[in-house]
Amino acid sequence: MPYRWPNKALFRRGSLLLLTAMILVACGQATPQTTLNPQTESARTIYDLSIYLFWLGVGVFVIVESWLIVSIFKYRHRDNDQLPAQIHGNTKVEIAWTIVPAIIAIFVFVLTFSAIQKIEIKPQVAAGEEVKVVVIGHQWWWEFRYPDIKDANGQPLVTANEMWVPSGSVIDLTITSADVIHDFWIPGLSGKRDAIPTRENKIWFRADPIADGDKPQTYWGQCAEYCGTQHAYMKMRVVVASPSDFARWSQEQSAVAVNTTLPPSFTAKGCVGCHAVRGTLAAGITGPNLTHFGSRQTIAAGTLDNNPTNLHAWLDAPNVVKRGNLMSAAIKDDTLSPEEIDELVTYLLSLDPGIDDKQQ
Ligand code: CUA
Repeated sequence: MPYRWPNKALFRRGSLLLLTAMILVACGQATPQTTLNPQTESARTIYDLSIYLFWLGVGVFVIVESWLIVSIFKYRHRDNDQLPAQIHGNTKVEIAWTIVPAIIAIFVFVLTFSAIQKIEIKPQVAAGEEVKVVVIGHQWWWEFRYPDIKDANGQPLVTANEMWVPSGSVIDLTITSADVIHDFWIPGLSGKRDAIPTRENKIWFRADPIADGDKPQTYWGQCAEYCGTQHAYMKMRVVVASPSDFARWSQEQSAVAVNTTLPPSFTAKGCVGCHAVRGTLAAGITGPNLTHFGSRQTIAAGTLDNNPTNLHAWLDAPNVVKRGNLMSAAIKDDTLSPEEIDELVTYLLSLDPGIDDKQQ
């Protein structure tokens, strides 16, 4: 008896649903964290490998599924069928389907191994063409230290959640963590690298050149290892700037804060215990360094855009904006009065040394 769909209406509805889903996916908005738009040699190597493997997978899928479909129709049960000859194995076929997958696996191994070699081996360049950055994962934000760029106090330049790098230079990253295991990942620029407490992992990339005078490019990244409640809101941005813009940025960021008069609530409510503002007595290291807070695009590690309304909401109830975050242990819903919040918002947003860095 020929096979029939159990329910034609169900089949039609299912097909319609599938088609709608496909159309909706195609209408998706811009995806800033895509791996499909690589902008460095490393990211392109990973992309190329994924494309080879994708088409290899498509080839295997098409051959196996075509064979399956042909077999289903050609050898389907017919009314006058007799019991077929009973056999046990076929040596030639068994050897073929052992050897062919082995050859495919070896091919994949060779491709992957050469890609890993390309990504791992950092090119040797002159000292001036390399920028070192130490990346430290925290629950739930990122700290970036530039050991070779000294700030106004002679200490390595420190910033949070937004890392600027010059285009065309080799960026040498040392990845570690202050608490639990995180994972550093900027899909457009490099592969992933675990941030493990007490260990230092390395990764490097070299962003495609940006001419002097051209706008910096922002790349979004994300912690890629589950690290607690706010893992999903442990984002970061990397701004790739032309060498002259980077020089200007690092000079401005190394300076003391543009406003070194802390508002009274900054000390009275304990902000100084966790945060540093260069040029003031605030020198805490538990939380992000706030010296040039006003120059950042986002607050709370990419959770919110950096603007007065969002900063107000964050200071008013950090536990509502980002549940479980460390600051909410000290700043409860009623810790800061509305006047104190206004005072802190005004002060923090004034900490902008000026470079036009609110790039998207
Ligand atoms: Cu840090 Cu997930």
